[in-house]
Amino acid sequence: MSNRTFTIIKPDSVRNGNFGKILSRLESEGFRVLGLKKVNLSKPQAESFYGVHRERPFFPDLVKYMTSGTVYVAALEKEGAVPALRTLMGATDPSKADAGTIRKEFGSSIEQNAIHGSDSDENAKIEIAFFFAESELM
Ligand code: RTP
Ligand code: MG
Repeated sequence: MSNRTFTIIKPDSVRNGNFGKILSRLESEGFRVLGLKKVNLSKPQAESFYGVHRERPFFPDLVKYMTSGTVYVAALEKEGAVPALRTLMGATDPSKADAGTIRKEFGSSIEQNAIHGSDSDENAKIEIAFFFAESELM
């Protein structure tokens, strides 16, 4: 298992002043930040990043949401990073997320759910490479 995952602190979190709280939560759960960038995603970037969902009915809204404001993208390190982050994030729909998860605390709808996390080691690698050169990770 790889020790890396990738996260996006989504526009709603940044807009609502929750970036620092979410980062602090990640650190206190043992994630180390290997790389961090503040980004305004372009439409083509958001479409490509979430390309797997291109045919889904929510895709246009998802792209609008992800380009609606600044995000922070980060490469994270922890043992078993991918499942550990998914557990810490909680379910896609914050109303169904377990107590104590980031989405339960900071998400407001199935779309505006505060945070992204890679869903497999393979995708973590692809997503990290989407935003970072290996030399930017330390
Ligand atoms: P993510 O990729 O952002 O970590 O989220 P996830 O795996 O929990 O959920 P996924 O199925 O990959 O969906 C990607 C993002 O699309 C938005 N979404 N909207 N309106 C809807 O029904 C709907 N469903 C999903 C969310 O922002 C979700 O995180
Ligand atoms: Mg996903």
